[in-house]
Amino acid sequence: MGTAPPTADQLRSTFIDFFVAKGHTAVPSASLIPHDPTVLFTVAGMVPFKPYFLGDEVPPYNRAVTSQKCARAGGKHNDLDDVGRTKRHLVFFEMLGNFSFGDYFKREAIPWSWELVTEGFGFDGDRLWITVHHSDDEAEAIWHEEVGVPMDRIQRLGDKDNFWQMGDTGPCGPCSEIHIDRGPAFGPEGGPLNDPHGDRFMEFWNLVFMQYDQGSDGTRTALPKPSIDTGAGLERILCLMQGVDAVWETDLMMPLIDQACSLTGKRYVAGDYEHRESFAMRVLAEHARSATMLVSDGVFPSNEGRGYVL
Ligand code: ALA
Repeated sequence: MGTAPPTADQLRSTFIDFFVAKGHTAVPSASLIPHDPTVLFTVAGMVPFKPYFLGDEVPPYNRAVTSQKCARAGGKHNDLDDVGRTKRHLVFFEMLGNFSFGDYFKREAIPWSWELVTEGFGFDGDRLWITVHHSDDEAEAIWHEEVGVPMDRIQRLGDKDNFWQMGDTGPCGPCSEIHIDRGPAFGPEGGPLNDPHGDRFMEFWNLVFMQYDQGSDGTRTALPKPSIDTGAGLERILCLMQGVDAVWETDLMMPLIDQACSLTGKRYVAGDYEHRESFAMRVLAEHARSATMLVSDGVFPSNEGRGYVL
């Protein structure tokens, strides 16, 4: 049929509308400056909802969907040094997420993510690979028996990849990630297990099964109710749907790179990660965007904390 790929705005609406139709309240993005003192920036869609997961506050809704402005520079979640060097890391990005505060759990979250990815985004299910935490028989069974993903495309990984926590303390739990096989040109065979941080099996959606509160003394206590926190990178999905090599060539980033080139008189070669000037153009584009978003949320340049990062 040859339908045109979505713009960033259309993709954001597709995600939000899907979950609104499943009873979620669409909540506007919170600020990049979190209320929570344990993280420097809003590093994930769940940060504004931390008190609901912990049971410290009663949520006004049991299900929410957001496109949350995030920044990952400093602390546990820090992508600053990868910017420009990989096809997928950004400091500032939008995280699409659906949340359950003690309402639904794995049995709903997993099939819904599959439905949206295959029917909403139109991704070929045969190219999708799933990872689950090595202890999570339940998630594996749902992916295999209910969704129908063959066992040879479901892999078990350890805490490093499939256990998510907000920071050194706070809500956490085992997670399950959806990856897409971008083909042999992007790296070796063998699924995410063989190449967990490469470009071939690109992770684009993380489903966290929130179950614990990580204490500062290292102990984990059970949350009042099991909950759901998911995060899908808008820029990564856009890259896949627009059929471009990297987040850099999407309609969100390419105009900024073009502007960096025209201001500096330098050349950008898409897909060339050895070319120093192209690296610099990517960094200029990304940091201009991140800095703009930080300033617009009230961060002021200084010699400490958030202002220092800016
Ligand atoms: N909070 C989870 C993440 O950031 C979804 O990956």
